[in-house]
Parts: sequence; structure tokens; C-alpha cells
Amino acid sequence: MGRPVMLYLVCAILAFWSSGSLVTAEDAYRYYTWTVTYGTASPLGFSQQVILINGQFPGPKLDLVTNDNVILNLINKLDQPFLLTWNGIKQRKNSWQDGVLGTNCPVPPNSNYTYKFQAKDQIGSYTYFPSTLLHRTAGAFGALNIWQRSVISIPYPKPVGDFTLLIGDWYKYNHKVLQQRLDAGKNLPFPDGVVINGQAHPSFGGDQGKTYMFRISNVGFKTSLNFRIQNHKLKLVEVEGSHVIQNTYDSLDVHVGQSATVLVTFDQPPKDYYIVASTRFTEQVLTATAVLHYTNSRTAVSGPLPAGPAPKDVQWSLNQAKTLRWNLTANAARPNPQGSFHYGKISVTKRFVLANSAPLINGKQRFAVNGVSYVNPDTPLKLADHFNIPGVFGLNSIESSPSGVSPHYGVSVLSTSLHDFIEIVFQNNERSLQSWHLDGYDFWVVGYGAGQWTQASRATYNLEDALTRHTAQVYPNSWTAILVSLDNQGIWNLRSAIWEKQYLGQQVYLRVYTPTRSLANEYDIPTNVLLCGKAVGKHP
Ligand SMILES: *[C@@H]1O[C@H](CO)[C@@H](O)[C@H](O)[C@H]1NC(C)=O
Ligand SMILES: *[C@@H]1O[C@H](CO)[C@@H](O)[C@H](O)[C@H]1NC(C)=O
Repeated sequence: MGRPVMLYLVCAILAFWSSGSLVTAEDAYRYYTWTVTYGTASPLGFSQQVILINGQFPGPKLDLVTNDNVILNLINKLDQPFLLTWNGIKQRKNSWQDGVLGTNCPVPPNSNYTYKFQAKDQIGSYTYFPSTLLHRTAGAFGALNIWQRSVISIPYPKPVGDFTLLIGDWYKYNHKVLQQRLDAGKNLPFPDGVVINGQAHPSFGGDQGKTYMFRISNVGFKTSLNFRIQNHKLKLVEVEGSHVIQNTYDSLDVHVGQSATVLVTFDQPPKDYYIVASTRFTEQVLTATAVLHYTNSRTAVSGPLPAGPAPKDVQWSLNQAKTLRWNLTANAARPNPQGSFHYGKISVTKRFVLANSAPLINGKQRFAVNGVSYVNPDTPLKLADHFNIPGVFGLNSIESSPSGVSPHYGVSVLSTSLHDFIEIVFQNNERSLQSWHLDGYDFWVVGYGAGQWTQASRATYNLEDALTRHTAQVYPNSWTAILVSLDNQGIWNLRSAIWEKQYLGQQVYLRVYTPTRSLANEYDIPTNVLLCGKAVGKHP
């Protein structure tokens, strides 16, 4: 028996044991072919160019069950290179499929790439979206829902139906026009509107007396949104894979890149009601309205729109964020309670303080982390690492805490080891809200605080029941602290979810490394890997 076969067997046995239950022999395989094209739609009421997947805008909804294997052939019919990334999908041992420019070569026009990944160890509402250029401002995003396996009980009754609400700010400008503006060193203009599922006024219907699940994701570009439904309460049940304490809210802040799942009982008189998503922390408030229609209603929507928090009230948002907590007795994707993992008792082995800034470099607007404004090399870091290609990135490319270096371009890689337990403090000394996303992981959001983080700030951390999520906001002139258990080898993008900032350099990669190559820790390079840059001609 050859060595790779042996390793596969060992992996399979380990996987069987660690699943902790009598799973069926085979996890399902789901096959998709997605063709990406330009098309037209009217999200703001007039026709404009958008990006379609299989003719749909937004893209098709992916409904998966934990452990499903996805084989998805993406065919790019645009005139530009293209990639999709799977927001919040952990891609265990598999940063090969993450779909960002640090891990994958973009799919050239009139070409294709087949993603192969498993939706492992998670249940919840997620999204996918294009990670290339400014494609995200034109569409090709969609919902990615992961349902529980039949052996897992979830902490709420099965709703009679579920709705997906992809909410986000929107521009009337073409993505290429927006890109030219950023390339020229300018900021983006204020968005032109807010849309729900790519529409100005969609409608969602259901029966009086029944309870429905609403999966809400902010797929927008730069603006935090507040979500609410006239006369109805939102019972929060899940946030980016965490089963949370089920508080009820009148409205919910959802920052760019974030998702939340709420249950709504249609417990009001038969009538139609407003669903509202409106911008937060902006001078001018942009609002999208949809309709909640009771099937027995004969009365159209009426009355004033339900009021949200005061537009500039940051404290309201912070207070709400602090109410999001893990339900320690609820199951996660595996049949053990979330609270059985005592994250607060684990020693931190490495610490980073990452400060965002908005410097001008050579007269152009850029965004930076600890002084370094990220530029994508032609060769994905993951391929450079695999093939030992020199000159793509170095491991001393960024300081682990801000040191006052003058802002410059770079390829920033934070160096860590597999099984490190790390603390990252996001220090925001700007007046704008930040939204940070980490690929390949979820992390505990243990603290929010005003001003400068200091060692003493640790005393305020929630080390008991902080929730894990994949995208955390940092309030203006404030900090947010997270803890991450680095159990997933690979190279992972840590970025601003606010795409203008990401595009202009507010991102780094986290290299989670071990010197021994083992299939127990990381899958082998895919046989269909696309090669580009200095990796052209290498043999996977
Ligand atoms: C492109 O699609 C074909 C099937 O149409 C498939 O055989 C091939 O592997 C795909 N290419 C990549 C790089 O995944
Ligand atoms: C926590 O989850 C349990 C299920 O294990 C559920 O019975 C309970 O109601 C939940 N508690 C809260 C406060 O949401």
C-alpha cells in the first residue's frame, strides 16, 4: 500500500472517530455548473448592467447540509478574470478552494474552474460573492445556507418556511467606472440606494399565526444597515454559525459581510407590513422597503415606516452587539454543546494588534494595516508557498503591532503555527466603522472598547459566552478583540469586508503553518489547480 493511500485511510478513520456519532457511510455530493455572464437588471428602478450566475441576479441560493461535498464548476464568460469566495465557509484543511487572490489564480475569461469543498462543522446563514476587482458591486453574490444533519437537534422549532434577504447598499455606476475611480486614487461616492435581493421593493408572504425564518446578510459594499419589520419582533437564533441566546429585538444592526438568522411569528392582524433596511452612521439615510404579506391580507402596507435607532447612535449599536452571546447548552454542528469548548481557559500563544489607517501613498488614497497597504502579487501566496517560489512574499512583511512605520505598499503575511491560539486586537483610530473578516475560521469576539486598547482592556473580555463569528465590526475610534484557535492549516485572508478598503489595501494573510506536510492537516494541491504568475509551468 502506497504512502498516500495509507494517509487517506488514517484520515478517514480519524474523521469517522471525531465525528462522534454514527454517521452514514457517505456524505452527499452535490454538483453544480455556474455560468457567469453580464446581463441587465433594475435594482434601483432603472436598467443597468449586472453580473448574473446562470441568468440569475442575485446568484442561485445554495442550500447545503453539514458535511455535504460541493463540486461546482464555475464558467467565466465575463471580459475580466473572476473568482467567487465562500463567505464564512471554513474550508477545513482546504485553503486551496477559498477563492481569493492570495489562494487562487483568477479564472480567465472564457475559462472555468471546478471548486471542490465540504461544508464541514457549521450550521447557519452564509453568503458567497466575487472577490475579484469590484465585481461585487455588480452582483454574482448569493445565499449559502447550511442546514443541520438529521442527528443534530437545533435549539428552536422547525420554522414553516425560510426567506433569504440579501441586503446591501447599491451604486448606479458600473463596476468598471467605480474601479477606475479607486485606481485613480479617489474614494468612492456615497451609495445611490439600498436594495433587498437586488430589488427595490420585493415581497415575502406567509400565513398568519405561523413562524418563519429570515436569513439576513449584508452583501453591500460599505454601509452598515439596520433591519426591522413593522409591528413584528425579531427573535435572533443564529449568527454566522453560533446558536445564540434567543433575545428578541425590534431591529438589528447588520454590518457589511455579516449574517444573522431570526425567527418571525406572523402574530399581527391580517395586513401587509413594511420590511425596512436603512443605512447606519451616514449623514443621509438611505432606505429600502420590502413587503411582508399575510396570505389572508386584503390591506396594503400603510402607516409610517417603523423607526430604527437614531442614525448616528453608535452606542445603541455597541449595546446591541454586547447582547449577542453564545447559548452554552445549545448544539453546534456536532452533537456537543457549544459551551463544552472553554475558549476562555486556553493560553494565548501569539498576539497581534492591527491598526487600520487611510493614508495617501504617492498622492493616492490607500488603506493600510500597521502601515502596510496590501497589493496582490501575480502569484497567489498559497502557490508560492507550495512550490517554494521565492520573491512573492516574506514573513517579516508586517509588524505584529503598530510601530509608526511610514505607509507603504507590501504583501503582508502574519506568521503563525498550526495549533496556535491567537489574540487579535483591531485598533480603529479612524472616524469610520470597520468590518473585519477572517477566512477559514470563526473566532470569539471577546471585547469591544472605546479609544486605545491597552493590556488592561483584557480585564473586560467576555471569556464565558462570547459568540463565534466570521466578521466583526470595530466602532469608530474604538477597538474590538478576538480569539482564534488556529486549527486549520493554510493561508487565510484577513480583510476589511468594506470592499473599497479591501481593494485599496486593507487586508493581510494569515499563514497557519507546520513544517511537516500531512494530509491529516491539509489536503493536497487540487489536480485541476489553475496556475498563473511565477507558478506557470509548475506541476501540481
Ligand atoms: C472545466 O470544465 C470541464 C468540464 O466541462 C472539466 O472537465 C474541467 O476539469 C474544468 N476545469 C477546471 C480547471 O476545473
Ligand atoms: C439554549 O439552548 C437550549 C437547547 O439546548 C434551549 O432549550 C434554550 O431555550 C436556549 N436558551 C436561550 C436563552 O436561548
